[in-house]
Amino acid sequence: MLGFVGFAAFLFLLFHFHRRSRYYRNPLFPDWPLFGMLPPLLKNLWQIHDFTTQVLQRNCGTGNFLGPWFTGMHYLATCDPMNVHHILSKNFPNYIKGLKFREIFEPFGDAILTTDSDAWKYHRTLFHSLFKTKGFALLLKKTVRKKVEKSLFLVLDHVEREGIEVDLQAMFNRFNFDIVCSNVLGYDPQSFAIDFPKVACETAFTEVEESLFLRHTVPKSIWKLQSWLQIGPEKKMTRACEVLDRFLYESIATKRENLAKDNVEKDEENDDLLTCLMRKEEGKEHASDKFLRDTAYNLFLAGRGTITSALTWFFWLVAKHSSVEEKILQEIKQEKEEEKDQVYLHAALCEAMRLYPPIPFEWKQAIKNDILPSGHEVGAGTLMILSLYAMGRCEETWGKDCLEFKPERWISERGSIVPIPSYKFISFNSGPRTCMGKDLSFIQMKMVASSILRNYQIHVAEDHPIYPSFSIMLLMKYGLKVRITKKAARKNE
Ligand code: HEM
Repeated sequence: MLGFVGFAAFLFLLFHFHRRSRYYRNPLFPDWPLFGMLPPLLKNLWQIHDFTTQVLQRNCGTGNFLGPWFTGMHYLATCDPMNVHHILSKNFPNYIKGLKFREIFEPFGDAILTTDSDAWKYHRTLFHSLFKTKGFALLLKKTVRKKVEKSLFLVLDHVEREGIEVDLQAMFNRFNFDIVCSNVLGYDPQSFAIDFPKVACETAFTEVEESLFLRHTVPKSIWKLQSWLQIGPEKKMTRACEVLDRFLYESIATKRENLAKDNVEKDEENDDLLTCLMRKEEGKEHASDKFLRDTAYNLFLAGRGTITSALTWFFWLVAKHSSVEEKILQEIKQEKEEEKDQVYLHAALCEAMRLYPPIPFEWKQAIKNDILPSGHEVGAGTLMILSLYAMGRCEETWGKDCLEFKPERWISERGSIVPIPSYKFISFNSGPRTCMGKDLSFIQMKMVASSILRNYQIHVAEDHPIYPSFSIMLLMKYGLKVRITKKAARKNE
C-alpha cells in the first residue's frame, strides 16, 4: 500500500515538473525539485539587484522565475528596453498594476500608485491639477531654501565642529521628510535637527517600505501566515502602519478643523497640497478621510525615499570621483545657480540615477495573452518584474563603459543634455504612468546638492560597507557614513 502511495506521489511530482518545464520556457536558473528557483534568490538577497542584472544578462534580458512548487510564485522578469517600451507604452492597456500588486502593497491604500483604469485616471488628473500650479513649484523652492539655510547648514556646521561621523542617508531621509510634510501637510515636524530626535512616523515610513520588499521574496502563503500570526517582518509592518495611520489621520482632522474654523481664503502660493486637495474634493462623495489619507500617503511615498536615494548615491559617487566634483564647482562658480542652467550637475544626477535608480524594479500584471518584442510569450495573469536597475547597466544601451560613472555621456557637443528616450533611461518610468514629480525632483536635488558641494567637503568613512538595503527603494543598508569639512566659502560665513 505504502509503495503504491509513494509511486503515485512520484508520478504526480514528475507530471508537475514536466508541466512546469513545458509551460514556463526560458527559465532564469535551474528549477530545483520542490524549492524551484527560490534557493539562489535567497542566497543572493544581500546583492539582489546585481544578481538579477547578471542573471538577466545571461538570459538575453528576459526569463521566467519560478518559486517553490505549488505556491503559485511566478514572475516573468525583463530588462530588455524594447520589452519595457512595449509593456509601459505600446501595449499599456494590457499591463496593469492589478489585484496581486494591491494585495502586496495594501498599506499604500487606493491612490495613484496602486490603482488602474478609471480610478487611476481620476487620481492622475487630480495630481496633475495639484502640481501644475506655478505656486507649487515656488512653494517647493521656498521650503527647500528655508530648510537649507535654517537646518542643513546648522547640522553640517555642528558635525564639522564636533569632528563626528554622520549618516548622510539618514540626514537626507529626515530632511526630505520635513520637506514633504511641509508641502503636503503644511507643517514642519523638525525631524532634521542637530540631535536627530526620534520621530516615530519618520521611522515608520522606512519600516513599511522594507517589509513590503520582503513580501516579494517569499511565497504569498508565508507572508500571509506571518501576518495572521503577527510575527517577523509582518508584525513590524503592522506596528509601523498603525503609527503612520495615526499620524496621517490626525493631520487630516486638524486640517479639517482649521479649514472650517478660520474660513481661510485660498492662497495659491502658500497652500499645502492637502489643503488644495480638500478644497478641490469638498462635498464629493468619495472624499472621505480614507481617500485623503491614501492620497497624502502616496505623495509621501513618491517624494521622500526617491530623493533620499538619489542624493545618497549621488554624493557617494561624487566623493569617489573628484574630477566630477571639480566640474560641478566650476559650473557653480560661473554663477550658474539657476537650476535650469546647471547642465553638468543635471548630467551627474542623471548618471547617478542611471546606475542607482531610486525605484530599482517595477511590477505589472498582464490582462490578456501577449508576445513580447523579444519573442517571449506572456500568459494572461502573468506577473512581470521590470528591473530598472539592470536596464541602467545594459551594455547595448549605454556602451562598454556602462558600469562607469561618467556624467559626460549625458552632454552633447553643444553643451546641452542629450535627450534619451524614457524607455532607455527608465529611472522616472515611461509611458502614460511616467513620474509626475521629475521636474520638481531636479529642482530640489540641485538646490541641496549645490548648497552642500559649494560649502562642504564630504569624506566617506574608510571601509564603510556599501550594500543595497532590502527595500522597495534603493537605499544603502548601512547608510552612508561621512565626515565633513568646511570649504572656504562657508568658513567666512
Ligand atoms: C528622484 C526622484 C524620483 C524618482 C526617481 C521617481 C521615479 C518614479 C517612478 C519609477 C515611478 C513609477 C512607479 C510605479 O509605477 O510603480 C514614479 C511614479 C510617480 N511619481 Fe515619481 N519619482 C521621483 C520623485 C517624485 C516626486 C518628488 C514626486 C511628487 C512630488 C513624484 C510623483 C510621482 C507620481 C505621482 C507617480 C505616479 C504616476 C502614475 O502612476 O501615474 N515622484 N516615480
